[in-house]
Amino acid sequence: MPAQIRLALPDDAELLPRIERSAAQAFRLIEELSWLADAATMTVDRHSQLIGLSTCWIAVDAEAQPQGFLSAERHGRDLHIYELSVKQSMQGQGWGRKLVEKAMEYARTNQLRSVTLTTFTHVPWNAPFYRRLGFQHNAAGALDKRLADILAEEYGSGFEPGCRCAMSWLVPQTP
Ligand SMILES: CC(C)(COP(=O)(O)OP(=O)(O)OC[C@H]1O[C@@H](n2cnc3c(N)ncnc32)[C@H](O)[C@@H]1OP(=O)(O)O)[C@@H](O)C(=O)NCCC(=O)NCCS
Repeated sequence: MPAQIRLALPDDAELLPRIERSAAQAFRLIEELSWLADAATMTVDRHSQLIGLSTCWIAVDAEAQPQGFLSAERHGRDLHIYELSVKQSMQGQGWGRKLVEKAMEYARTNQLRSVTLTTFTHVPWNAPFYRRLGFQHNAAGALDKRLADILAEEYGSGFEPGCRCAMSWLVPQTP
């Protein structure tokens, strides 16, 4: 079977924290964020919840082994990406891009308004990566309450001012 992206299944939930932990090792390259490599991961319960909503996708290799995932949830007409992780040994091979494109396809197919997320402004594989996929930085003054609350919570947990940003990809509207 060729490598592919598929919808996550209930049994995948317990595999995902390990993938997130492996993915987060990338932050060891950035001294001030290296603590993220050991930070708490999303819980299995939360993964199960998002899998149950059919808004979690898995990147599987040619042997059908999960190598990455994207976990999201619908909020009204927006799909919000909560976590995107690709196993460290598999990074840089296009899996992250394919997973985000899957979320964009879901938003388009379900006639949503946008795909949203919060991320690090200056980490090369965060905001710049999403920008190349068509996401735009939401100016602080133009944030809706949901995104403003997420950013406020992130800053409340101790992130440096300005290091996080909210981004959106607007689904192209057909006339
Ligand atoms: C973000 C992440 C999921 C991207 O997955 P990936 O499979 O490596 O991504 P891709 O191979 O599709 O590459 C995407 C782009 O990021 C760039 N990139 C990936 N790893 C990089 C690195 N360590 N340094 C610089 N650029 C990097 C690639 O060059 C590529 O650029 P392109 O858009 O010009 O093609 C992965 O790096 C990861 O799991 N990181 C740790 C967790 C994380 O930061 N998640 C996102 C939270 S918002």
